[in-house]
Amino acid sequence: MKSFHKSLIAISAGMLMAFSFSTAIHAQTAGAWTIPAKFKTTKNPVAVSKESVAEGKDLYSKHCKSCHGTKGLGDGPKAATLDVSCSDFSTKKFQAQADGEIFFQISEGKGKMPSFKKTVPEDNTRWAMVNYIRTMAVK
Ligand code: HEC
Repeated sequence: MKSFHKSLIAISAGMLMAFSFSTAIHAQTAGAWTIPAKFKTTKNPVAVSKESVAEGKDLYSKHCKSCHGTKGLGDGPKAATLDVSCSDFSTKKFQAQADGEIFFQISEGKGKMPSFKKTVPEDNTRWAMVNYIRTMAVK
């Protein structure tokens, strides 16, 4: 009887641990990104120009619009099928991030957000997308 009690306690403790572990993982996937500090100060090597913004827009339409929406509001047709928000590129909070941080997010992805290092292998093309995403800020 005593050992039965002990194992019951052990099982509930185990379940509690598994539960808190899964909530910790969930908290990681929704929202906060872990971005290495150096990306805060990494300079965008692609100057903002009509050409770079147009290049970024072209790639955005191909690879990003389905989730992030035409204006970056996070309302693309695929967004409704995801259990996580696609964010909103028009907000001050989003735009307060450094170019390098946005570049990192596009390159590495997280959770439902794909990594684009392989799909868009040219670094400068991903930087051009950063330039285009800057035009989505609500002035
Ligand atoms: C399959 C849907 C999907 C596609 C396609 C997609 N994203 Fe995302 N994106 C997401 C989701 C979901 C998040 C939020 C991820 C999280 O926080 O877990 C996100 C997050 C981001 C963020 C960070 C937002 C923030 O608030 O800091 C950026 C930047 C971004 N995406 C850019 C892009 C770009 C640029 C492309 C195209 C090259 C792209 N995404 C393609 C789903 C997508």
